[in-house]
Amino acid sequence: MMYVSSLKLTNFRNFEHAEFTFDQAKTAIWADNARGKSNVLEALYFLALAKSGRGARDRDVLRWGANYFVIDAQIEREDRSFPIRIAYDPLVGKKQASLAETSLPRLSDLIGAFNAVLFSPEDVDLVLREPAQRRRILDILVSQSNASYLADLEGYQRVLAQRNRLLKDRRSALLSHPEQVEPWNEQLSNLGARIISRRLEALNDIQHLLSEYYRAIAPTPEKMKASYRSPISMETRDQGREILFEALTTRLPQEVELRYTLTGPHRDNLIFTLDDKSVHQFASQGQLKTVLLSWKLAEATFLEQQTGWRPVLLMDDVFSELDPNRAKAVLNLIPDFGQVVVTSARDPDLDFGAHGFRLLKL
Ligand SMILES: Nc1ncnc2c1ncn2[C@@H]1O[C@H](COP(=O)(O)OP(=O)(O)OP(=O)(O)O)[C@@H](O)[C@H]1O
Ligand SMILES: [Mg+2]
Repeated sequence: MMYVSSLKLTNFRNFEHAEFTFDQAKTAIWADNARGKSNVLEALYFLALAKSGRGARDRDVLRWGANYFVIDAQIEREDRSFPIRIAYDPLVGKKQASLAETSLPRLSDLIGAFNAVLFSPEDVDLVLREPAQRRRILDILVSQSNASYLADLEGYQRVLAQRNRLLKDRRSALLSHPEQVEPWNEQLSNLGARIISRRLEALNDIQHLLSEYYRAIAPTPEKMKASYRSPISMETRDQGREILFEALTTRLPQEVELRYTLTGPHRDNLIFTLDDKSVHQFASQGQLKTVLLSWKLAEATFLEQQTGWRPVLLMDDVFSELDPNRAKAVLNLIPDFGQVVVTSARDPDLDFGAHGFRLLKL
């Protein structure tokens, strides 16, 4: 297992200077609204991906009026204990990460050193209703278990942006000489097929976990599933690459018209269903929350299976909107995980102390 033993914040969100200590036990951060509970979890999650798990820009997590922020943490693993430091200074225009006091050439080098899973309440609506956000949670899942996935994803975005620019700037040239765009098609289909096949593998691996966690939390018997929708259906990666290349070639006239690349992992969709009914259209708030929660618990278990390290589970305001049965079921699942930090504005309803949590007041 791995866990964070201390966290020191400087100019991060509402914290000018703050220090927190944690142990392996479950921690419940209990405080009134607007005290900084979500911000503490956001800071902890920063240690995993070097960016906000809530999709905020660096300059927005910088404390208002301040000119730099620093997150310092100490990570404990069975084999070693090491610090992670993330510093951002907009004047230098740079965010810099260091691991065990060695500064890292690229931020992506940090990924994998520390793994965390964040459940964020604003994701419930956002993620489950917007295709782009659903792709994001899938990408987060795969990225932390596979360092080269993130590199592929960044490469894909770069080539995609170049190709889209060509579609805009060289319209007539491309229509008469479609072979001009071939080098981009080549790269996109290569990277795209790799991305899609990794997504499919990961989804396949977590499918049974998803339905198990859903069943453990919801007292109702509907079956939860996540499926990947893509016009590129492939048995093998090579086949996927060929189909993608073919689609990029044949749809070019339409793409020149729309000035946008129409096929590829950036357009694929992840669909959640309960008894084959789309969650985004039909689920209630509590059901949506249960779906996202099942996804996050499955993600934590998947990461442990893939990396050998049990990630830290960060659950922001997970209990509001859950009925007492579901809340109790979640509390009963938590002991199966490693370090867990939950937040709530209402301890008395849940009685964290009685469930073995250490209470941290802000
Ligand atoms: N960049 C920033 N600089 C300074 N303060 C900020 C910044 N971003 C957010 N805040 C403030 O931090 C405070 C705490 O926010 P946070 O979301 O962590 O509260 P919370 O304890 O989770 O509350 P709730 O129980 O309502 O979810 C808010 O008042 C917010 O306005
Ligand atoms: Mg909050």
